[in-house]
Amino acid sequence: MNLLKATSLSHAFEYPLFKDISLELNSQESMAIIGVSGSGKSTLMHILSSMLVPNEGSVELFGQDIYQLNEKEMVRLRRHDLGLIYQSHYLFKGFSGYENLEVAALMANETIDDALLRSLGIDKVCHQKVTELSGGQQQRVSIARVLSKKPRLIFADEPTGNLDHATAQEVMNIFFNYLKEHNAGMILVTHDESLASQCKYIYRMHDGILTKVQ
Ligand SMILES: Nc1ncnc2c1ncn2[C@@H]1O[C@H](COP(=O)(O)OP(=O)(O)O)[C@@H](O)[C@H]1O
Ligand SMILES: [Mg+2]
Repeated sequence: MNLLKATSLSHAFEYPLFKDISLELNSQESMAIIGVSGSGKSTLMHILSSMLVPNEGSVELFGQDIYQLNEKEMVRLRRHDLGLIYQSHYLFKGFSGYENLEVAALMANETIDDALLRSLGIDKVCHQKVTELSGGQQQRVSIARVLSKKPRLIFADEPTGNLDHATAQEVMNIFFNYLKEHNAGMILVTHDESLASQCKYIYRMHDGILTKVQ
């Protein structure tokens, strides 16, 4: 099933960032986007995940042109179907990790998966305040929070940036299992070529052009 179809995306801030980018992703597929810092990877992710309107081009998610949706449909799509994982975690700082998960699960009408917390190694520490957790622990709580929503499409922008290589690999395994179990898809921005190479497709952003390299 087609999850994402982007056609002829172009975007500029002060100067043109990229032009004529088209891509597609189906269920159970993963795509890595690589490229040097400042090449526009995060901007592309914001456009694909409905958070930024491109200067040109269209984005279809689950077969629907997202710019045809009304506000209510857009909120529903973001709340239930899209899982956004960014470098900074956006956890509620006054809460415990677990309370953050409860809020996310409640909003998406889902339940917290204890096995997921164990597999991320945060089943015990998540009861502490967010501010007491290390950067890597916060990152894993934010990954658990997003997966607790049971999204059909995951956008992960450097999701393992704060983790050592072994932990990053474990997190990637959790993502890949999730895609299989939930028939979902993932677009991943990473600097780590060994993680990128585990995705079905790899695209490189360079000089405003996105080229398929795997
Ligand atoms: N909201 C914005 N307003 C103006 N310029 C921006 C904005 N977001 C990103 N940029 C610029 O666009 C370029 C690409 O940024 P980004 O997409 O974050 O690249 P990457 O994720 O590949 O490092 C950078 O030069 C950045 O300063
Ligand atoms: Mg970035």
